Amino acid sequence: MPSPPVVRSVADLRATLAGWRGEGLSIAFVPTMGALHEGHLSLVRLGLSRCDRVVASIFVNPTQFGPSEDLAAYPRDEAGDAGKLSVAGCHLLFAPSAAEMYPPGAATVVTVSGVSEPLDGQARPGHFAGVATVVAKLLNQVRPDVAIFGEKDYQQLQVIRRLAIDLDLGVEILGAPTARAADGLALSSRNAYLTEDERRRAPELAAALADAVLALRAGVPVAEAEAQALGRVQAAGFGPVDYLEVRDAGDLSRMGPGPLPPGRAGRILAAARLGRARLIDNMAI
Ligand code: PAF
Repeated sequence: MPSPPVVRSVADLRATLAGWRGEGLSIAFVPTMGALHEGHLSLVRLGLSRCDRVVASIFVNPTQFGPSEDLAAYPRDEAGDAGKLSVAGCHLLFAPSAAEMYPPGAATVVTVSGVSEPLDGQARPGHFAGVATVVAKLLNQVRPDVAIFGEKDYQQLQVIRRLAIDLDLGVEILGAPTARAADGLALSSRNAYLTEDERRRAPELAAALADAVLALRAGVPVAEAEAQALGRVQAAGFGPVDYLEVRDAGDLSRMGPGPLPPGRAGRILAAARLGRARLIDNMAI
């Protein structure tokens, strides 16, 4: 199957999209940073089930990486990614350069307060401003009917939902379930950093969260369920753990320390380092 056409400039992107719109076709958009895995491809398939055309982007966005993070090492394989996108049925790949996305003089930063502040907002200062800025730009460039993001980056999804409402972007933001390996590990481009031994231990993060969900549903107090899960993750050799917390599923405000109040949707979220990899995961309670 031939790879989807690749456009690298906003002008070429808009020309193709204008043609589709002229034909009355609806457009789904899947933004990515490449190093695609089954999780990304499931987003493309969800887009196909909702719209006539699916556009994916690959852009390793420098503004969402901190100075000591893995921007330079982040896995890149555009040719391999294009092949996977074509098998999944993607119609167009937008792969801009950093200069196309941030031309000289670019001076606008989008910040979303509240939901972007705890958790990764604390652990990775500036990260969500980088995400919100690039996603606002991409959504403006593509102007899709639907944009699809994985629930694995649950806080990111909530930040983008808030952003789309606040900036009247007129796009439906769709969250897609986290794709997992058979042993439960959430699929992530950063799993490539795990050694064989770390890869064997990595599923303990998902297992600890899943058991905490069962405990919380059975009425175990939040503080106790969090402490048990944290102990288990540390015993598996993770460290440091940036956070392992139960939060409101909507605005990510803190819940607990007692049992979850009935009728309130909670989410348990964690980020922890295992060797070179920083793994994140979360589950609905
Ligand atoms: O989730 C990602 O891959 C990135 O944060 C995104 C949404 C493509 C923005 O760079």
